[in-house]
Amino acid sequence: MKAKKYFAAAAGAALAISLAACSGEGAGSEEESTTGATTGTESTESSAPSEGGLVGVAMPTQTSERWIADGDAVKAGLEEAGYEVDLQFANDDIPTQGQQVDQMITNGAEALIIAAIDGTALASQLDAAAAAGIPVISYDRLIRDSENVDFYVTFDNYQVGVQQATSLLVGLGVLDKDGNETGETGPFNVELFAGSPDDNNATFFWNGAIETLQPYLDAGTLVVPSGQTDFEQAAILRWQQETAQRRMEDILTSTYVGTDQEVDGVLSPYDGLSRGIITALQNNGYEGTVADGFPAVSGQDAEIASVKLIADDVQFATIFKDTRKLAAQAITATEAYLEGTEPEANNTTDYDNGVKVVPSFLLESDIVYADNIESLLIDSGYWTAEEVASGVSE
Ligand code: BGC
Repeated sequence: MKAKKYFAAAAGAALAISLAACSGEGAGSEEESTTGATTGTESTESSAPSEGGLVGVAMPTQTSERWIADGDAVKAGLEEAGYEVDLQFANDDIPTQGQQVDQMITNGAEALIIAAIDGTALASQLDAAAAAGIPVISYDRLIRDSENVDFYVTFDNYQVGVQQATSLLVGLGVLDKDGNETGETGPFNVELFAGSPDDNNATFFWNGAIETLQPYLDAGTLVVPSGQTDFEQAAILRWQQETAQRRMEDILTSTYVGTDQEVDGVLSPYDGLSRGIITALQNNGYEGTVADGFPAVSGQDAEIASVKLIADDVQFATIFKDTRKLAAQAITATEAYLEGTEPEANNTTDYDNGVKVVPSFLLESDIVYADNIESLLIDSGYWTAEEVASGVSE
């Protein structure tokens, strides 16, 4: 991840500290992080001078650039605030993440910021943290089935799902970009994808999307020819691009190939899945741009490869969740705990983790279409115009 991200993320971070964070990132390949977690020999612990204590930051994977950006932004911001940071990525492997958090506790972490792989798999670590009086902040994904989660920072995940469905309806021409109905009634053939069933967010995205699409499904404006309309059928374990590609290919083979039906749109909850779905469509003869009739595919995260596809009118839209703002909230919450106060929540009703309602701070997200890439992503410094043009982060 590039230096400019650190600068933007760390809101005012001193140059020297940002550069230190940058150089620390080199140690953060999946393999090295994983090895480090197991052996305790390799980590991205801060070399910045720290007056505060050690904060453990557990991120799920480096295969998706958003988590790298999240990890880097949290690390840089905490270092700027004077804390020492142990940032680990777990290669989407549940036991690895458990070991990493165990190690953070052993190493004397005074607070933990955790984006869980499986929201239910960290029970013993959370018990140990609670016994040691370590506050736990659930980062973006809610940790479930435990009393020992103190705070949750995330986006309004239901609203993200609403936005995904809205962008699909815009792509089909049923709504305009102001959300007004155009009078277009289809019928349009759509297929539905959901995220990983062990990620609490996936059901929020799904519920927001399906409740938005339901009136159009009921009216017959939208049809799901595969008949696969249940979350369980649509879910893609670990948010894997290849799994989404395979499922889309299976649906095309079973339902579309050899018929005169065509796919008009696909609800996809994450850019990685969207790219797998687009590849499956292209492998089956769909070509060109959305304006030319390529199916409208939604997304999430504004990953650079997808932003380029949107600029090229191949993927229709994505949802931008500014990881810099999320990181800043996580840092604010951590500091509050370490200073002996309570972080400020703006939602104390929606995020029941099965044991308790976790006080939460929710941020807002935006729909990205080709025509607002510049205002949302380039002007805010999230991506440069060159990165959007190349589809690769510098
Ligand atoms: C996050 C999404 C992300 C997905 C896959 C979810 O928990 O909220 O932003 O697309 O995980 O990494």
